[in-house]
Amino acid sequence: MSEPADRRYGPATLPRERGPLSAAVVEALRHPPHDLPADLGADLDPADPITDEDLQLTLFLCYELHYRGWLGVDESWEWQPTLLALRGRCERVFEAALRRLVGTPPVPAAGVAAGLAELVAADDGPSLAATLQRRADLSQFREFVVHRSVYHLREADPHSWALPRLGGPAKAALVEIQTDEYGNGRLDRMHAELFRRTLDRLGLDTGYGAHVDVAPAVTLATNNLMSLFGLHRRLRGALLGHLAAFEMTSSLPNRRYGNGLRRLGFDEVATRFYDEHVEADAVHEQIAAHDMCGGLVRVEPALASDVLFGAAAGLAVDRLFAAHLLDSWATGRSSLRAPAPPALPPKVSLGALPAVAPSTPAALV
Ligand SMILES: [Fe+2]
Ligand SMILES: [Fe+2]
Repeated sequence: MSEPADRRYGPATLPRERGPLSAAVVEALRHPPHDLPADLGADLDPADPITDEDLQLTLFLCYELHYRGWLGVDESWEWQPTLLALRGRCERVFEAALRRLVGTPPVPAAGVAAGLAELVAADDGPSLAATLQRRADLSQFREFVVHRSVYHLREADPHSWALPRLGGPAKAALVEIQTDEYGNGRLDRMHAELFRRTLDRLGLDTGYGAHVDVAPAVTLATNNLMSLFGLHRRLRGALLGHLAAFEMTSSLPNRRYGNGLRRLGFDEVATRFYDEHVEADAVHEQIAAHDMCGGLVRVEPALASDVLFGAAAGLAVDRLFAAHLLDSWATGRSSLRAPAPPALPPKVSLGALPAVAPSTPAALV
């Protein structure tokens, strides 16, 4: 298959393997769909599934077939039964690890929105945002952006999988949030496109999936858990809870990220992605907790516990992610699997952001 004319939107090139399982999958995907050995992954038992490079990359390889696919990989692999069976084995190990990590958060009598607020209030993870605002140097900020690019270049896509699985108030609320995420149908306002400009300003590859190879397992895990929740209808409560926790913990950190970039000398094109989220997510967090998750649980009360599980899992994996970056930097190491390319000087001019009409509170994107 030939190189696509425009790499910005995917598919990405297949990453390099990180162990026997991912090696087997990468090799298989280079060929037309065929049955994998029945015992592949049967003895899967990593010490820590969330930070296991081989397991997380294997999951990421499988999940990406449902997003943009991989460059040169036959699209029929998406529903190849033996690959799906392998993905299922990996998912059981991953989901069990997530449930061990966060347990079963109790649903308070005051309801699921109150439960979400409690989880967020108790989230005492290391403050990556404060470090990026006050102390991180340019190379560390670029590393952070590289990690986050795996998600932000397809921002909102995993949660969109909930849409056909919902009806009523929860669906309306999710559509309201996603509409903002996708820029109300305006390409230059799509959050993924705003982030592409941040990458561009920082002199980093803006191609979809361009940084997967250097993203460690914990970064892939932050993405894989969204895909796990998104691709299984039974986990729709967890998917909405994850989105709610995302929105409820976004506004202040994004203000700090933007301030960190300004401290390093970057302009409003670079900070636009973060600045937009300060206001947009202050609105989204209310919609997500009360209208979306509250609306879901009013219709399906049995999903309340799943909503809180999804939120707790998202917060917990993000704490591991933050700890990984801060621990790496505290000991003078890169947090990536390979250092980011040399930094370009700040304020490098890479094109102006197209003019957009002023935002309104209802369309803060
Ligand atoms: Fe966003
Ligand atoms: Fe948002």
